[in-house]
Amino acid sequence: MSKKTTVSIIKCDVGSLTGHHITPRPLLDLAEKHLAKAEEKRLINSHYVFHAGDDLELLMVHQKGEENPQIHKLAWDTFTETSEKAKKLKLYGAGQDLLKTAFSGNVRGMGPGCAEMEIEERASEPIVVFAADKASASAFNFPLYRIFADPCSSAGLIIDPAMAGGFKFEVLDVKENKKVVLKCPEELHELVALIGTTQRYTVSRVWRARDDMVCAATSTTRLSLIAGKYVGKDDPVAITRAQQGLPAVGEILVPFMHSYFVEGWMRGSHWGPIMPVGLKDSQCTVFDGPPRMVALGFQVCDGAIACEDAGKPMISDLFNDPAFDMSRKEAMEYAAALRRMGEFEPARLPAETLEYTTLPQVLEKLKDRFKKA
Ligand code: F6R
Ligand code: MG
Ligand code: MG
Repeated sequence: MSKKTTVSIIKCDVGSLTGHHITPRPLLDLAEKHLAKAEEKRLINSHYVFHAGDDLELLMVHQKGEENPQIHKLAWDTFTETSEKAKKLKLYGAGQDLLKTAFSGNVRGMGPGCAEMEIEERASEPIVVFAADKASASAFNFPLYRIFADPCSSAGLIIDPAMAGGFKFEVLDVKENKKVVLKCPEELHELVALIGTTQRYTVSRVWRARDDMVCAATSTTRLSLIAGKYVGKDDPVAITRAQQGLPAVGEILVPFMHSYFVEGWMRGSHWGPIMPVGLKDSQCTVFDGPPRMVALGFQVCDGAIACEDAGKPMISDLFNDPAFDMSRKEAMEYAAALRRMGEFEPARLPAETLEYTTLPQVLEKLKDRFKKA
């Protein structure tokens, strides 16, 4: 068993109440029961169950390392059982993201999304996890660029000598399944050239350049690439470490002071504005959105989440704060502007991104009626 601590967040849409808008209480309770049992057996040291819209999120802290088959099986079994319960309740989209039936040691490529980070605990270890609903795998490209590469956003890049060497970004080409590491500030322009193309490139990991300390990890699943057709948006998750030679929690959150656009929203086929929300507002309503983002803060302590005296993990619901009211208002203003456009681009995603939905079928239907122009 590794002495290091691993933070794993594994998520799955197992079924939702009233369409695709929220993971209902009975499924959260069942997942909680599963993880509490795993904690009793010391498979994991801490857990927190929550949801981002219709995605069930399992936050687990343990000492078994990344991609550990026991941890992944725990998540897979939890998703299978909650899906069964969802089916019994005839909830909507029950088992939606469970794209394969036989578990083979790792949830990657099977439908659930997963971000994991194995760390050597510092004297104090503040962590922020993010979870989005109705958003694509690259939804974190823009904020991660702001957090780790933009000195006008993260003041520490200029003020803190411990951050002076910059950060390295691992960028995944999801179409060709290749990855490249780019170092900022030296390769900032190349980084933006790639990750600005959000349909194809996803930031998967970030390290502090001077000592290769890992400081961020995201989920990179493209559900449509696994299933070969549209089966729901990826609704990604991310983990970031904060403070003491890394961006401060406030620098990690400041990119969300304004809304920004992600692919997703209704039928995974539209540009939609990210709305940062507290857990109480973690549900998707208007046009199945707008895409929501939650952020939870906690401290890792001796292989676990730091707890209250009674053993309850201390979790801070970071976007449950009037400081993000402006961003939420912006999101609704952007949402209104886009919806006024109806199904005309740029409100709807470009055709290439729609190839997993219905455009090929429309073209097929009309193919004999097209005449040479
Ligand atoms: C997007 C999403 C929803 C559904 C929409 C239609 O990720 O989950 O916007 O695409 O509600 O759902 P179905 O086809 O299940 O009726
Ligand atoms: Mg769903
Ligand atoms: Mg979802």
